[in-house]
Amino acid sequence: MAVSHSAIVILGASGDLAKRKLIPALATLYEQGEIDETNVIIGTGRTEYSPEAFRSRFDVPEDFARLLHYYVGMEGLKKYVDGKGTFEQIIIFMALPPSVYAQRARELAAEGFGAETRIIIEKPFGYDYQSARKLNEELHAVYDESQIFRIDHYLAKEAVQNILVFRFANNLFHPIWSSAAIDSIQISAYETIGVEDRGDYFDGSGIIRDMAQNHLMQLLCLMTMEAPVSLDAEEIRAQKVNVLKTISIDSVHRYQYEGYRSERGVKPDSTTETFAEIKLHIDNFRWTGVPIYIRVGKALDRKGTEIGIQLKPLPHLLFNQEGRVQPNRVIFKIQPAEGIILDLASKTPGSEVRLARTTMKFCYEDEFDVEIPEAYQKLLLDALRGNKTLFVSAEETEMSWRKYADFLDHGEIELYKPGHPPPTKLGCEWIDFERYGSACD
Ligand code: NDP
Ligand code: BG6
Repeated sequence: MAVSHSAIVILGASGDLAKRKLIPALATLYEQGEIDETNVIIGTGRTEYSPEAFRSRFDVPEDFARLLHYYVGMEGLKKYVDGKGTFEQIIIFMALPPSVYAQRARELAAEGFGAETRIIIEKPFGYDYQSARKLNEELHAVYDESQIFRIDHYLAKEAVQNILVFRFANNLFHPIWSSAAIDSIQISAYETIGVEDRGDYFDGSGIIRDMAQNHLMQLLCLMTMEAPVSLDAEEIRAQKVNVLKTISIDSVHRYQYEGYRSERGVKPDSTTETFAEIKLHIDNFRWTGVPIYIRVGKALDRKGTEIGIQLKPLPHLLFNQEGRVQPNRVIFKIQPAEGIILDLASKTPGSEVRLARTTMKFCYEDEFDVEIPEAYQKLLLDALRGNKTLFVSAEETEMSWRKYADFLDHGEIELYKPGHPPPTKLGCEWIDFERYGSACD
């Protein structure tokens, strides 16, 4: 059923996110019949636009463009929205600098946006534990947690959502999913681009705040959490919090690419990290003794996000008398070319018994032959439908920041050449994810 009779308000509609992601995502939802013509989309900002000038900023079909309106400023916004019709719900997307989230929330409440309102908040959510906690308090002073939708766009990636299905809908993996069979977990998130035109933001953040504390912790939680009692968002979020509570970070190594300090917006003596290695562990019955390794960064040799589950080696018996059989691995290809790869041993053809490593690959695109929806399409539609599964709770954000408290901006910075990831100091055999190629070869 298409979403109808909703007002979608974008604060900061003159900005980059609205232009590149939000309006195009809404246009696609309209084209797909997920939202209908009874909805209105109201952009707001301090910039002056006539409704026509605002519409002309976007390359969208004319029938969709008719849903777009623009209002300058905050004062009188509620009255303006009410003047556009009677709406069952009002979704407000804060596409604003994080420094103004709390102030805008207070202004919205003062304007009269009440129980019918849902507020969507972009990342970054806080800068550290204290600031995230303060922001939650400020938001909770005017809106109930049930009305607040915090975005982590990694949760909207198809391959990320498949983690729970893979784990809890396949009995094959259920018995091995613990320290009994798993040796280590490795998460790799590489990007080829540097900071590009986001130097100003990134230099005040660094890769740990930008990627590890949020996106990669979410991946880890989904990979290691207990089965929720239902698919209810609150049940899933509660299980993620349980994992976060038991995470301890052991070590962090920070690196910066050569030339970073000359990027626009970056301080010439910056010690912000653009690459990090993190070792952590989970102290619960399922995972105790299983080290978890993360390598994440920018200006590297490839773009790819993977999770590698390394199984324990076989005993030195039968085919593995000399200990040469490579332990099995499960590789989750989060992007690009989403899929799952199993690394197995098999017999090579011929009269002699010789073993070779082989892979079984599941590729999303080949299997289902559908275009994978863009993250913001999914997030906006879920917010409109009131489904919070793909959004992060206050407790998750605070708990995750708390775990990193002693490791932000901490320790020496080493340099690496763009395109050349630094050698690992994690003390493990790091999985060569590139070796597996794409799940879709
Ligand atoms: P912009 O810097 O382009 O800002 C968006 C709009 O916010 C501006 O057009 C401006 O509108 C308004 N604004 C700017 N400064 C202030 C201020 N001090 N007080 C009130 N309003 C202000 O940001 P983006 O659109 O790039 O991003 C919006 C949010 O989304 C940010 O939190 C960002 O971190 C996050 N984000 C963005 C991504 C992207 O791809 N762009 C990706 C992931 C997250 P006006 O001047 O008209 O009021
Ligand atoms: C954003 C970070 O949250 O995620 C960016 O701010 C990063 O620095 C981006 O480039 C990566 O997202 P994706 O979906 O391209 O992996």
